[in-house]
Amino acid sequence: MVLSTGTNKIITAVFISGTGSNLKSLIKFSKFKKSPISIKLIITNNKLAKGLKYGKIFKIKKKIINFKNKEIAEKKIINELKRNKIELICLAGFMKIFSKNFIKNFKGKILNIHPSLLPKYKGLNTHQRAIENKDKYSGCTVHFVNSKLDSGKIILQKKVKILKKDTPDSLSKRILTQEHKLYPKAILKVFNL
Ligand code: GAR
Repeated sequence: MVLSTGTNKIITAVFISGTGSNLKSLIKFSKFKKSPISIKLIITNNKLAKGLKYGKIFKIKKKIINFKNKEIAEKKIINELKRNKIELICLAGFMKIFSKNFIKNFKGKILNIHPSLLPKYKGLNTHQRAIENKDKYSGCTVHFVNSKLDSGKIILQKKVKILKKDTPDSLSKRILTQEHKLYPKAILKVFNL
């Protein structure tokens, strides 16, 4: 991807559904001089998402979108993205799936972080499935979003060893720590930095 705005930063929206720890790490990353992104908008489908607090703390605009009707929700999102001149979308624990049409509109401009070593364990309950299958490693992946779930081109992955005593919860915590490092690295890679 080429930096479209010269020396200015890429105007970015982060989508969340829950805790927002990846959002927090992306905001911190965005404050570094070497970061190519500036986060201007947080979008959520969940008005109770804990991560919304980072909007308040870091003075970033928030938008809550009701997903009862996906078509209407996506239209509202597209309007918000246009209004805020968003150039890059980072999904960070966003638990809704976009329509093919939405993704086509932003082809190559949507990134996602997923808590497994894709193509293994697309979808939900990744840690439980990796433990049940007695895998030696799990990890996390940052990838471009295409029209198939968790299937777009992989940007970066980080392996995490599964310990004998691991529960889905303990494994998820160790992987999350790596996610916070991996997402910024993947963004630097996308922009050839
Ligand atoms: C993260 O582990 C992220 O990889 C995962 O949800 C968690 C969100 O945590 N995303 C998915 O499962 C998407 N399919 P966070 O809200 O603390 O960033």
